[in-house]
Amino acid sequence: MRFWAPFARKPGYMRLPAGPLYDAGSPAPYKSLYKTACVALVVLVLSIALNCYLLFSNHERWPAAFEDFQQLKDYPLLNRSLVPTSIYHPNETAFVTTLYSDSYAPAVAALGHSLRKTNTPARLLVLYFPDTVSQKALCVATASGFVPQPVARIAPPDDGRGMNPHFADQYTKLALWTLDALPAPVRAAVYLDADTLALGALDELFAQPYALAAAPDVYFSTDVNAGVLALHPDTALHAAMRGALALARFPREYAEQAFLNSFFAADMLRLPLAYNGNIALKKRAPRVWAALRAQMRVIHYTDTKPFISHSWKEVPLDRLHERVRAAGRENGGIFKEEMDYWEVVWRDTLATYSDHLSQC
Ligand SMILES: *[C@@H]1O[C@H](CO)[C@@H](O)[C@H](O)[C@H]1NC(C)=O
Ligand SMILES: *[C@@H]1O[C@H](CO)[C@@H](O)[C@H](O)[C@H]1NC(C)=O
Repeated sequence: MRFWAPFARKPGYMRLPAGPLYDAGSPAPYKSLYKTACVALVVLVLSIALNCYLLFSNHERWPAAFEDFQQLKDYPLLNRSLVPTSIYHPNETAFVTTLYSDSYAPAVAALGHSLRKTNTPARLLVLYFPDTVSQKALCVATASGFVPQPVARIAPPDDGRGMNPHFADQYTKLALWTLDALPAPVRAAVYLDADTLALGALDELFAQPYALAAAPDVYFSTDVNAGVLALHPDTALHAAMRGALALARFPREYAEQAFLNSFFAADMLRLPLAYNGNIALKKRAPRVWAALRAQMRVIHYTDTKPFISHSWKEVPLDRLHERVRAAGRENGGIFKEEMDYWEVVWRDTLATYSDHLSQC
């Protein structure tokens, strides 16, 4: 209020005739109209100034460590002899993914195969919607060893208002924290989005002691990407998360990823980007991508998916090859190598699990 006082007191502007609408003893409607106009003008001027600043200044949109990346070291990502021995039996650890619609079935099968190739002793679990996933799709998805685990959909808060509709099912990811309640409890889980592939062993993630560990996002503005999560299932924590869902302030557009960032906030472990090699990084900072590639553990097909088109329509298995080719041509061909890699893994999945797949 006081801030605007000098404007309001400017002589000459407030000499309004007394009348039925204006009584010197009560709040003046003209006065408040005038103030609103002043505020609007100031906001307009500030917004023009800010836009000019953003347009013409050498404003850095991303951290300089990425934009002005230098290859300053040649040092291993991880010294395995320093990984603490897990207190868990391998049966209590699991790689977990989700299958909400049939269109992701081949992706889950390829992910399972890529995990098997790392010789992990951990379990593989796929959480799926029994009402929307067909038997055929579940058969394909589980071909390489994922064990199906039905899950109830967790609805987005506010009936999904403000959310990108593509993320409508993603709050179901919170069910990861209930896996300690299975007859064979999972004590340590590594969640992987179905549009990822393991490029190397990931078992050290089961030994991390924090409630949540995740790699930074390179795409949206929120802190970590929810495509790869290392966590400790805990039904009590799950209940707290469900309660917080109604109270938390977070950008609804980015759904469960924004919620997890708001819920765990400063209390999570930042994983090296090698654990979530988001292909969007290749576009944003190609030199970082090139440096990361050799030690990358997980590749994450965010931007362009080799197994599904941008219309999200299911691609029949016998036409996946065409989809991969098309995906390789998108974005001026920038992801061709990555799409071809997915196809190599998919073809190996077909060959390795042909008996199972022929029965689907
Ligand atoms: C890994 O850590 C062990 C124990 O500190 C050390 O002896 C070894 O040299 C390290 N290996 C590498 C490759 O840094
Ligand atoms: C681990 O799981 C397998 C397969 O379910 C079972 O045969 C084995 O007894 C389990 N071991 C322990 C120690 O729980």
